[in-house]
Amino acid sequence: MKLPVSGRAMAAAVVAATTLLAGGTIADAATVPQGASAPRVAAAPDISLANVKAHLTQLQSIASANGGNRAHGRPGYKASVDYMKAKLDAAGFTTTVQQFTYSGVTGYNLIADWPGGDANQVIMAGSHLDSVTAGPGINDNGSGSAAVLETALAVSRAQYRPTKHLRFAWWGAEELGMVGSRNYVNSLSTGSRQTIKGYLNFDMIGSPNPGYFVYDDDPTIEQTFKDYFAGLGVPTEIETEGDGRSDHAAFKNAGIPVGGLFTGAETRKTSAQAQKWGGTAGVAFDRCYHSSCDTTSNINDTALDRNSDALAHAVWTLSS
Ligand code: TRP
Ligand code: CA
Ligand code: ZN
Repeated sequence: MKLPVSGRAMAAAVVAATTLLAGGTIADAATVPQGASAPRVAAAPDISLANVKAHLTQLQSIASANGGNRAHGRPGYKASVDYMKAKLDAAGFTTTVQQFTYSGVTGYNLIADWPGGDANQVIMAGSHLDSVTAGPGINDNGSGSAAVLETALAVSRAQYRPTKHLRFAWWGAEELGMVGSRNYVNSLSTGSRQTIKGYLNFDMIGSPNPGYFVYDDDPTIEQTFKDYFAGLGVPTEIETEGDGRSDHAAFKNAGIPVGGLFTGAETRKTSAQAQKWGGTAGVAFDRCYHSSCDTTSNINDTALDRNSDALAHAVWTLSS
């Protein structure tokens, strides 16, 4: 994670050079015919908003069929895990369900490894899959969960073969104190912790009155996200609403480089923010935060689409 961070072109050039050296010898490179282009890192695909929203519809149905929520220890949580796992298994991921016990009931993390890549250089992307008991948790955090799932499925569709190893995760019991992610990090040996070169967290990325916040943490990860939004012409701000308020905290505490995206929770959008991003000043980024109204209606499509695409961009770029 120590690539120079002087912009997308530079990062791509460095990565291309690395690929060249890894894939052959310098002599091989010299034999590339004139006019042939140097090996290039494949660009991340455009993530389909419709596909991400289809996952949200399924999570909403799961909540509706299970007492209105997908909370730790409730049947809607395990049904959410089963939904994700079936998609990942069908796409060729190696999935693991990690069990833990919290407040007397079983919780689950879902881990999906994409076969291949350097096992000593792992890039992870994750999101919590549990809701609070008050509602279905579609923005918090169906949004992150669906976007991470769709990115994983895009990796499979592209049959992407990055240099690094890719691992995706969906955490249980975040809403009760980031319990699942803490269990996962604690379960790793010192050696396997050291293989994780970056953890990207996505918790609330489709807020209805959205801001575009990038975690101010590992500089390379942060710059990768900022470059993507700069390319869209969308201004970002540093996430300050609550450092350590989501599942990246356990990774950061273990010394793993972290980053992530966030579109805002209970804090109100200022007029300066409404001027640059649109939306409504004086209103919370997410008025339905932790409430029964956090349904499929509680999503800003543009924010969800941009953040899903930024997620895929970061996964592709950082693992190449
Ligand atoms: N699930 C988080 C929470 O309930 C959502 C959240 C609020 C958040 N503020 C944040 C996530 C800041 C990341 C960064 O606390
Ligand atoms: Ca898209
Ligand atoms: Zn959350």
